[in-house]
Amino acid sequence: MDSKLVFSGVQPTGNLHLGNYLGAVKRFVELQDTNAMCIYCLVDLHAITNWQDPKELRQNTIEVTAAFLACGLRQENSIIFNQSQVSTHTELAWIFNCVARIGWLNRMTQFKEKAGKNRENASLGLYCYPTLMAADILAYHATHVPVGEDQKQHLELTRDIAMKFNNDFKTPGFFPIPEPIIEGTATRIMSLRDGTKKMSKSEASEMSRINLTDDSDSIRKKIQKAKTDPFEIPSEKEELANRPEAENLLGIYATLADQSIEKTLEQFSGSDFKKLKDELSDILISELDPINKEIKKLLNEETYIVEILRKGSDKASDISQPILQKTREIVGFLK
Ligand code: TRP
Repeated sequence: MDSKLVFSGVQPTGNLHLGNYLGAVKRFVELQDTNAMCIYCLVDLHAITNWQDPKELRQNTIEVTAAFLACGLRQENSIIFNQSQVSTHTELAWIFNCVARIGWLNRMTQFKEKAGKNRENASLGLYCYPTLMAADILAYHATHVPVGEDQKQHLELTRDIAMKFNNDFKTPGFFPIPEPIIEGTATRIMSLRDGTKKMSKSEASEMSRINLTDDSDSIRKKIQKAKTDPFEIPSEKEELANRPEAENLLGIYATLADQSIEKTLEQFSGSDFKKLKDELSDILISELDPINKEIKKLLNEETYIVEILRKGSDKASDISQPILQKTREIVGFLK
C-alpha cells in the first residue's frame, strides 16, 4: 500500500470564489490528472458546525458539486461525494474523539478564531471539528492532503491521532501518516478590498471577491473597482513589499498567465493600474467564462448532480468500510 491516495474536503457553504479555484480546485484537477487516486469530499457535516439553513445547505452542496465538475473534476477519474452520505466518517470520528486529547484540541487556532469571545456558546461540533477531519482523511488511508495554509494545524493533529492510535493499539503503520500538500504563496489570493486579508466568502462585501458564478460584466466591474495604490507598477519584486493590493493583482495575473511574478512585472512595469486591470479582466474572463457557463448548464441538471454524489458516496463507502471494520476489530468491538 505505498501508492499515492489524495483526499481533500471543501465546505459547501456558498459560492466558490477565485481563491478557492486557484488555491484548491485547480490543483485538485491537476492531481486528478496524475495517476494518483483522488477523493474529493463536500464536507456537509463540517458545514453544520455553524448553523446552516437546510434549503441553502442543500443548494450549496449542489452548486459546489457543479463548480467542481465545471472546473474539470470527472467522476470517471476522481471520487466526488458528500460526507454525510458515508457513515464511516462519523463512526471513525467517535473513535478518534477517544484517541485525541483535550489539550491537543485546546491548541487549535481555528476554533479560537471561529468561536470568538463567546466560546461557551460555540457548538460542541465546532470544537471537535478536527477529529472529524482526521477521520475523513484516515478512513481512506489517504497519503496526501492538498489544503490551504490555514489547515496545516488540523493536518498535524491528524498525524498525531494516527500515530497515537498506531501506538496505543500496537498496530504500527495501520494508519499511514498523511502528508500535506500546502498551497504556495503564489496561489494565496487576497481580498480585492484589502490586500492583507485572504479572499473569503465570509467577507461582507461582494466586491471583495470574484465568484465562479460571476458573469463577465461583474468580473470586469469588480476588477475595475479593486483597491490599488497611487504608484505605478514597479520593475522589481522587492518594491512590492508594502503594496499588498498591487502584489495581489499582479499575483493573480501571473498565476492565470502561468508565468513568474518577475515576468509579469517586466510586462507591466512603469504603467498605471488601468492597463493591469484591463488585461487582468481579460485573462480572468477567458479563464472563468467557460466555467461560469458550464455551472449554469449543470444547475439545470440537478438530478444528474445528485446521482454523481450518490455514486461517489457508494464508491467512498466501498473503500472506507473495510478500513473501519479493521479499526473496529483493532479496538476490540464485536462484529
Ligand atoms: N477543514 C477544511 C477546510 O475548511 C475542510 C476539510 C474537512 C478537509 N475535511 C477535510 C480538508 C479533509 C482536507 C481533508 O478547508
